Amino acid sequence: MKIIRSIKKLDQALLVLRQKGKRIGFVPTMGCLHEGHLSLVRYAQRENDVVVVSIFVNLTQFGPREDFKRYPRDLKQDQKFLKKAGVDYLFVPLRTSIYPKNFKNFIEPGPLARHLCGPKRPGHFRGVATVVHRLFKLVKPNVAYFGEKDYQQARIIAELVRRLRLPVKIRTCPIVREKDGLAMSSRNQYLSKKERICARAIYQSLKQAKKLIHSGERNILRIKRAIREILASCVDKIDYIEVANPKTCAPVKTIRNTALIAIACYVGSTRLIDNFLVKL
Ligand code: PAJ
Repeated sequence: MKIIRSIKKLDQALLVLRQKGKRIGFVPTMGCLHEGHLSLVRYAQRENDVVVVSIFVNLTQFGPREDFKRYPRDLKQDQKFLKKAGVDYLFVPLRTSIYPKNFKNFIEPGPLARHLCGPKRPGHFRGVATVVHRLFKLVKPNVAYFGEKDYQQARIIAELVRRLRLPVKIRTCPIVREKDGLAMSSRNQYLSKKERICARAIYQSLKQAKKLIHSGERNILRIKRAIREILASCVDKIDYIEVANPKTCAPVKTIRNTALIAIACYVGSTRLIDNFLVKL
């Protein structure tokens, strides 16, 4: 695995491959990698000739009171992981490569960001859209891989690619979970032993909502109440419980063919998100 830090080196390495007609699969990450990230790498390997992973903890997507400073960073471990997984290139850009002096090309995330996490994390999706756009311009991948864990993020990127007609295909891949159902996340590291046990309730509440819907429940308020009841005794604060349109992420009044059940809540001081796509 080649570790690349400079844009120039990245260009040199990838240009040759592109000229040979190789397909480049790209997995953007913020590091502190786990099986969720590695699953994206495996999809990318299956569908491309070369796989590039990036690690960049992107300041612009963190709010002023969020965890940028303490976000877990473990480049050594990540390198080991990716090497073992057979990744070809690891791109670890400097902050100034992504955001050169006088950088102005901020990308607006569009109307999808008005819902779910958008209002709770002002500026977050603008930061995500901007960094992913910048990374796409640098890596120029054929296909880029995102996780359904961050469902709204993946939708925003897919929409951005459509809007700006970027020459990249977006693939969204299933959520990888721990044995007890908790969605894997770099932020799970923050949880104490007790909090980790409490966090199970998130997946349990999603499962319960799914069960209710499949047994015929269509009343959104009752579905949300069932989720809230399970979460109430386990989590410290609920940011939102939403039943949304999977395409627009806007809340729905009735469930038709598909629905996205999405949750954001705090266990201790750790903000966790999860979702379930219901298909009838
Ligand atoms: P990060 O949280 O590191 O996640 C990188 C990618 O891994 C995202 O596409 C995310 O959805 C996916 N992922 C995380 N946990 C997953 C899980 N349990 N199962 C499946 N996929 C999972 O998301 C970001 O970084 C950043 O916002 C980024 C896109 C890199 C822009 O800075």
